Amino acid sequence: MKATAIAPANIAFIKYWGKADEELRLPLNTSISMNLSGAHTTTTVEFSDELKADDIRLVDGQFSETEKKRISKHLGRIRDRAKIRTFAKVVTQNSFPKSTGIASSASGFAALTVAGCASAVIALSEKELTVLARLGSGSACRSIPDGFVQWDAAGQSDDSYAHSLYAAEYWDIRDILVIVATEEKKVGSSGGMEGVHTSPHFAARLAVIPQRIRRLADALVKKDFTALGTVIEEDCLDMHRVMQTQSPPLNYWTEATKRIMEAVVGWRSMGLPVYYTIDAGPNVHLICETKDEERVVKSVKAMKGIKEVIVNRPAEGTHLVEEHLF
Ligand code: DP6
Repeated sequence: MKATAIAPANIAFIKYWGKADEELRLPLNTSISMNLSGAHTTTTVEFSDELKADDIRLVDGQFSETEKKRISKHLGRIRDRAKIRTFAKVVTQNSFPKSTGIASSASGFAALTVAGCASAVIALSEKELTVLARLGSGSACRSIPDGFVQWDAAGQSDDSYAHSLYAAEYWDIRDILVIVATEEKKVGSSGGMEGVHTSPHFAARLAVIPQRIRRLADALVKKDFTALGTVIEEDCLDMHRVMQTQSPPLNYWTEATKRIMEAVVGWRSMGLPVYYTIDAGPNVHLICETKDEERVVKSVKAMKGIKEVIVNRPAEGTHLVEEHLF
């Protein structure tokens, strides 16, 4: 059976950086994110007796051999669950060009999991789907539930799943994604995270996260934007301090990244409430309220070195659609 799913990318407000178990992708801390409306992956999967190997393709680009192996390994997990041995054809398309440098592993593995399970005709609960997606890429589990999502750290695989805190409609804030570099990053998150324990700041980060999760939860309940932005920016800086003090150090910021970070602080001091957050790359997410979207977009577009600006609203989670890619 052919099945197609659309999965949003997500931006972490409290970041996942460090695994307790590499193979199971069990995180060392709980993380919280928001699904993004402007960046998603569509994937069609069909298991078929006629195939002699998995046939994996990307529309408008090419997967590397390493990427194909990682996708095949994930298809193997779905085959194990479904107790089948057939190979699959997979066609996947990103709403954002691969060259924008936006990480696609979260939306990619979320779409692959949901389309793959539907194609193999295995009915899993949302919770089970997030556990399975997590094995492909940790942050992918957060792209499955709706809107604002929490992924719990736990000692057992079945307990480390993602669940929606609030639906997408709960709070109409914006994530203005500013693309400053389009090259593929040299060190991806999986590799980068391996060195996390070499940072002298990592233990302090883990110790402070429960308190930060509580502050974020409180800001969400109260829809207190200043409190929300403050904790998001704080956690971003904290994760990057860990990255930058790992051995070997990981520095994802470029000059343009730093210019935007400084500009945001300046805009805030002039009365424009906007906060930044950055994942394992140089692109910057600007978090603001709907009423300030235009001002933020205008201010950032006036800066040098900006390649593209994508305005995101909170989005629903991964879902099946009728229209297939092949
Ligand atoms: C910095 O989910 O890509 O974006 O589990 O190894 O696939 P793997 O890592 P991945 O890491 C994402 C790291 C981050 C922070 C976050 O999204 O929480």
